[in-house]
Amino acid sequence: MNIIVTGGAGFIGSNFIYYMLDKYPDYRIICLDLLTYAGNLKTLNKALENPNFKFYKCDIVDRETVFNIFENEKPDVVVNFAAESHVDRSINNPGLFLSTNILGTQVLMDACRAFGNIRFHQVSTDEVYGDLPLDRPDMLFTESTPIKTSSPYSASKAAADLLVQAYNRTFGLPITISRCSNNYGPYQFPEKLIPLMIARANDNKSLPVYGKGENVRDWLFVEDHNRAIDIIIRKADVGEVYNIGGNQELQNIDVVKIILDVLNKPISLIEFVKDRPGHDLRYAIDASKIKKDLGWEPTLDFKTGIKKTIDWYMNNQSWWKEIINGEYLNYYNEMYGNR
Ligand code: NAD
Ligand code: TYD
Repeated sequence: MNIIVTGGAGFIGSNFIYYMLDKYPDYRIICLDLLTYAGNLKTLNKALENPNFKFYKCDIVDRETVFNIFENEKPDVVVNFAAESHVDRSINNPGLFLSTNILGTQVLMDACRAFGNIRFHQVSTDEVYGDLPLDRPDMLFTESTPIKTSSPYSASKAAADLLVQAYNRTFGLPITISRCSNNYGPYQFPEKLIPLMIARANDNKSLPVYGKGENVRDWLFVEDHNRAIDIIIRKADVGEVYNIGGNQELQNIDVVKIILDVLNKPISLIEFVKDRPGHDLRYAIDASKIKKDLGWEPTLDFKTGIKKTIDWYMNNQSWWKEIINGEYLNYYNEMYGNR
């Protein structure tokens, strides 16, 4: 089996590559990644030693290069993780999100059509559903919840999600889609809530919590997400859409307090800052369809997963310190300077 994994130098994609190389020693994994600020080839150092792994630095929007790679590598399956993925950055620069997330997905699907109707899995997000009210814990996103987005990021992911469904209906492309809640775990870029707070708390710096910290996210350990994708690409019927969730809803403020507690740092590090414009209130997932159809359910609760994650960040400080001491400093000052 030859699998093309796009965005494999980023957070979830790199974890997926390690999961698959470990579980299926006979599979060939071919990674396409542009190595944007969020992609880090060092993350793939161990994979690069494996003869069954190949890396191409490639923009998924670049049709000619993508088609050449497909022609040479003859994939059986494509899993598309590549994306601009940070909501805050999409507020500052929406155009890049539309290009990578929508047009890049189109190029990949055109390549799938051109080289033998290759199976295509789109890694979508629960953010395509918009948000839920804070005071209705009974409400959850199901796969038939209407698409209704809040940020340029989620709008670009929703457009891609719809385009993938259109390629199935119009051209018969064999696709599947997964819409997952917030992931956490090793190799997450320290601009997202959990690694940002771990890195800053470790350095005794203030922890910028947006608004009052009341917004709710559902958290899933990254390996549980990747196990679900593996099951979907092997077992799901063509055309199916699956929600994936951790069943671990938490307010942001509680996530931050748990991190402080595990690191044994004071609550006084928390600093409430100006809220994100259009900030989604609550995400919560009904993942009963994937459990019923494919037998998948999450294995790690948040308390266990966050300890594993914090251990990883403490044992791999050079990985994230190199990031936060580079160009990232400008990003942090730009994003948080006037908040
Ligand atoms: P990430 O930002 O850590 O990684 C994205 C990767 O894509 C990076 O390696 C980057 O270099 C690469 N990339 C960006 N533009 C590219 C381009 N034009 N061509 C080729 N490669 C490009 O993101 P992540 O958190 O690992 O998310 C992966 C996917 O999962 C995304 O599609 C995201 O929308 C989706 N998702 C993420 C979460 C989450 O909590 N992180 C939840 C649900 C869905
Ligand atoms: P984030 O990790 O950016 O993921 P998403 O916006 O895709 O859910 O943010 C998670 C939550 O944490 C979100 O409600 C915004 C909030 N947040 C903060 O309060 N402070 C921060 O510095 C960041 C990055 C996020």
